[in-house]
Amino acid sequence: MRRFLCVLLMAAVLGACLPGLAENEMIYQSAFNQGLDGWYARSGGSAQVELLPPTALHIRGRQSDWHSPGRDFDLVPGTPYTLTVQVRQQEMDEAQFMISVAHSSGGAESYENLARGTAKRGEWTTLSGDYTPGLFDRYVLYVETVNAPSLSFDIRFFRIYGPEGMEKMSNIKEEEPVLLPVEGELPSLKEAYAGKFDFGACVPGHLARSQEAMAFNASQFSILTPENELKPDAVLDVNGSRKLAAEDETAVAVHFDSAKPLLDYAQAHGIKVHGHVLVWHSQTPEAFFHEGYDTGKPLVSREIMLGRMENYIRQVLEYMKENYPGVIVSWDVVNEAIDDGTNQLRASNWVKTVGEDFVCRAFEFARKYAAEGTLLYYNDYNTAMPGKQNGIVRLLESVMEEGNIDGYGFQMHHEITFPSMASITAAVRRIAGMKLRLRVSELDIGINAVSNENYQKQAAMYGDIMRLMLEYADQTDAVQVWGVRDNQSWRADKHPLLFDAQGNPKPAFFAVVEAAQ
Ligand code: XIL
Repeated sequence: MRRFLCVLLMAAVLGACLPGLAENEMIYQSAFNQGLDGWYARSGGSAQVELLPPTALHIRGRQSDWHSPGRDFDLVPGTPYTLTVQVRQQEMDEAQFMISVAHSSGGAESYENLARGTAKRGEWTTLSGDYTPGLFDRYVLYVETVNAPSLSFDIRFFRIYGPEGMEKMSNIKEEEPVLLPVEGELPSLKEAYAGKFDFGACVPGHLARSQEAMAFNASQFSILTPENELKPDAVLDVNGSRKLAAEDETAVAVHFDSAKPLLDYAQAHGIKVHGHVLVWHSQTPEAFFHEGYDTGKPLVSREIMLGRMENYIRQVLEYMKENYPGVIVSWDVVNEAIDDGTNQLRASNWVKTVGEDFVCRAFEFARKYAAEGTLLYYNDYNTAMPGKQNGIVRLLESVMEEGNIDGYGFQMHHEITFPSMASITAAVRRIAGMKLRLRVSELDIGINAVSNENYQKQAAMYGDIMRLMLEYADQTDAVQVWGVRDNQSWRADKHPLLFDAQGNPKPAFFAVVEAAQ
């Protein structure tokens, strides 16, 4: 206790010395899950912004660096603000971005660049900078590129922090204490769903090494997924592959160092594992697709990339058969191949090298090398959106023709406000009608602020989704949440999981348990 007080005291003293750091509060956060929120495309007319659910905004049709997503803000002159945003682009190896302000006085506009950063292909990258506005009539904050005038890109979590006590600029609510109804022993999710389907979670690598966290996971979940540790960027050994490529361009070197702690625990404790993921455009080293594994050289031919794909899938699956027999019961063979804008195959490195049949080829190789009985899944998000759903269904139909796919994984990264239960239900019914196995692979449901009301809405939606999947219990292999505690979630600011930061079960936890009864 005394040590705790000491830490508190130190934090207070530090806070007093570093006012910017300790006293800044978030006063605005973009809410792209609730519409454009005042954001528009700054341009001569060609650029367009559109929502990219669940939380992002997409801009395309740009012809100039300043053609950008922007919004008017009532900034107070002389106030020290901090601005942050996450940006992502898919078209260049690297692109530079800036947060800028266009301010005007008496009709004359002038500009300042406030934050800079370089975003690698496919990676959400945070820009952050400080800004104390001078005296102007109007302020437009916007996110622009440097020497990439036609690049399409995404932004999310545009945030403004200001001094403590400032009026909020958007509907960020104050946190309210929430009563947690815990009486007696905590029910177990895996037991509640026993005989129906597996209930699981993803676990990040660092927690897979914690005996305490894993003992808790073992008590609650019958299936686990490494959150990042079986993705190609964790498994592909680029340096090793580069050496092998001197002899054979199709050779691939792999290692499983990051995934081992979770796999070892699962093996020792009889917990199933769902593998995520063999083939994906994201979290995959760019070098994988280039001659000599060298990003300075051209993309490899279809023949070589097919060779690398087969070798990669073979080595991963053979390693698992040899070292962890029976542990990995299912795999996401391909993840997120359909593009949100066009609803066609995304123009990824896979399409650029192998071509449009890369999904079918991945399933062919996975079937060839997976242990018998391993379930092979295609996994994607935004299935509840009709256009994307059509694209996903078209893809599934083409893969089903070859007979190597078993199921479809609904990611379901949702918000309490979006999508509607009606559209989620329609999506599940449609895919279920295709006679594929089903899973909810990455369930989380975001709220904008912690309050009793939001916790209840979140619980209701979790309950509705569980009841929907229970209608298909015979066809469903698992429902998995994407994380355990809110603060460990990839969307921590959205408090989207079943347990709060202290590990207390939230109303959503009890709603999931009750749905099974
Ligand atoms: C996320 C992880 O949770 C993060 O830790 C990581 O930084 C980015 O990827 N769809 C997927 C998952 O298929 O692999 C993603 O996981 C979340 C979206």
